Amino acid sequence: MKLLVTGGAGFIGSNFIRYLLGEHADAAVVNFDKLTYAGNLENLAAFAARPEFRSRYRFVRGDVADPEAVAAVCGEGFDAVINFAAETHVDRSLEDAAPFLRTNVVGTQTLLEAARRLSMQRFVQVSTDEVYGSAPDGVAFREDALLHPSSPYAASKAAADLLVESYVRTYGFPALILRCSNNYGPYQFPEKLIPLTIANALEDKPLPVYGDGLNVRDWIYVEDHCRAIQRALLQGRVGEVYNIGGVALRTNLEVVRTLLGLLGKPESLITFVEDRPGHDRRYALDSTKLRQELGWLPCHSFEEGIEQTVRWYRSHSDWLARCRSGAYRDYYERHYQQRGELLARMRGKA
Ligand code: NAD
Ligand code: TYD
Repeated sequence: MKLLVTGGAGFIGSNFIRYLLGEHADAAVVNFDKLTYAGNLENLAAFAARPEFRSRYRFVRGDVADPEAVAAVCGEGFDAVINFAAETHVDRSLEDAAPFLRTNVVGTQTLLEAARRLSMQRFVQVSTDEVYGSAPDGVAFREDALLHPSSPYAASKAAADLLVESYVRTYGFPALILRCSNNYGPYQFPEKLIPLTIANALEDKPLPVYGDGLNVRDWIYVEDHCRAIQRALLQGRVGEVYNIGGVALRTNLEVVRTLLGLLGKPESLITFVEDRPGHDRRYALDSTKLRQELGWLPCHSFEEGIEQTVRWYRSHSDWLARCRSGAYRDYYERHYQQRGELLARMRGKA
């Protein structure tokens, strides 16, 4: 099985490559990644250096929205494409949606077109629960729910899903779509809630909580997501959408308090800041289809997964520090400048 994985230097993609090659001795992966601020070859460096993986893993730097680069890499011949490549941070999409449209929409279409021309046998689009928008209390969205995205990020992912569906209907192209809820675990870039909270708390810095902190997210440990992708890749029905989630619904405040408890840090670090515009109140997924058709079950409870995650970040403080230097620091400061007094407080601590 020879796979083209796009965006494999990011959080979920790197966990997926490690998981898949560990599980399948006959698998080989080419990781095609542009290496944006979120792409980090360090995420796979130790793994790629191991003799048993060296001949089965290769990195190619490239942009999914560049037709020539995509045609060249696809031309190597693959059994399947798994498309993780994306701009992924909602807050960044509120400041500038253009890179989101380029990578998430044009990039997906560019890949679809190259794969279609080469009659590729399988295309897995890694999508998100955010395409459904906010779920009313008591509702967990199924795959047939309407798409109602709130942020430019979510809208760009929904547009990509629609393009994938159009290729299935128009050309009979063998693609399927996976919509997962919020992931957490090792190697997540520390702009997202969980790694950001851990990183700030370890340095006794304020923990920005948007609005009243009662927004609910449906949390899944990244390895459980990777296993669902593996199942869908091998056994999923083409033309179908599968939700992946429904594991642990928590308010943001619950998540932050759990992390503080594990880190032994005081709740006084919690700092309520101005809410995110268009902030979805609640995400919740119904994954019955995935469970029934593909026999998937999560292996990690939130309590166990989050403990493991905190341990990982504690023991990878150098990785965290490198992610938080340079351009990240500039972005973070600019971003929170708009959120009032927090920046001043952070500078006071720096
Ligand atoms: P990430 O931001 O950590 O990584 C994205 C990767 O894509 C990076 O390595 C980056 O360099 C690469 N990339 C960006 N633009 C590219 C381009 N034009 N060409 C090639 N590579 C490019 O993201 P992640 O959290 O690992 O998310 C991976 C996928 O999973 C995304 O499609 C995202 O929408 C989806 N998803 C994420 C979550 C989550 O909680 N993180 C949940 C559901 C779905
Ligand atoms: P995030 O990790 O950005 O993922 P997403 O927006 O894709 O769900 O945010 C998770 C939740 O945490 C979301 O409700 C926004 C909130 N949040 C904060 O309260 N503070 C923060 O600093 C960040 C980054 C997010």
